[in-house]
Amino acid sequence: MKIGIYPGTFDPITHGHTDIITRSLRVFDKVVVAVAPNPAKHPLFNLEERVDMVKLVMKDIGQVEVVTFEGLLVDYVQRSGAHGIIRGLRAISDFEHEFQMALINRKLAKKVETVFLMPSEEYSYLSSTIIKDVATHGGSLTPFLHPDVARRLQERIRSLKS
Ligand code: COA
Repeated sequence: MKIGIYPGTFDPITHGHTDIITRSLRVFDKVVVAVAPNPAKHPLFNLEERVDMVKLVMKDIGQVEVVTFEGLLVDYVQRSGAHGIIRGLRAISDFEHEFQMALINRKLAKKVETVFLMPSEEYSYLSSTIIKDVATHGGSLTPFLHPDVARRLQERIRSLKS
């Protein structure tokens, strides 16, 4: 069974992430969504909340597991016996950062491959930061987020404002 690891911060999970996970299942038999604590990014949701939202969104998609990992991604990939890292390439602007991460990961663990997938065009401009900005300014989240994730994001922003 070919297993791919899809790592990220997922603060919160968007339709763009879901699109990549769905596409990954055409390449891998199983996808492990690995949620990183990433304190450097000062996430709006804590790790447990982010995991919970990924699980909620993925509940009807078979062959998807949601985990957390600490430390180096390649160490987790090797420990878990997965066959590769999955990353989405949304635009040329992603390339430099992704190229650097993939090559550092290869230097750290030469047998760990990174597989890049292109999201659907309609999601190619999405990022969690931009969605949080839309939410902060009261914009509609329907095109970007699962309804329950949208509700949680609106609640979080409301509680931060009050
Ligand atoms: N659809 C929508 N948004 C997407 C997306 C897609 N298909 N693909 C990426 N994004 C967004 C994310 O939401 C995120 O947005 P944000 O910055 O506004 O929050 C941004 O693109 C990229 O962030 P993310 O996917 O969270 O990845 P990252 O670049 O922050 O890296 C890890 C996260 C976990 C992969 C990386 O930090 C890591 O490997 N950490 C472990 C430590 C390690 O091994 N370090 C050495 C190697 S770098």
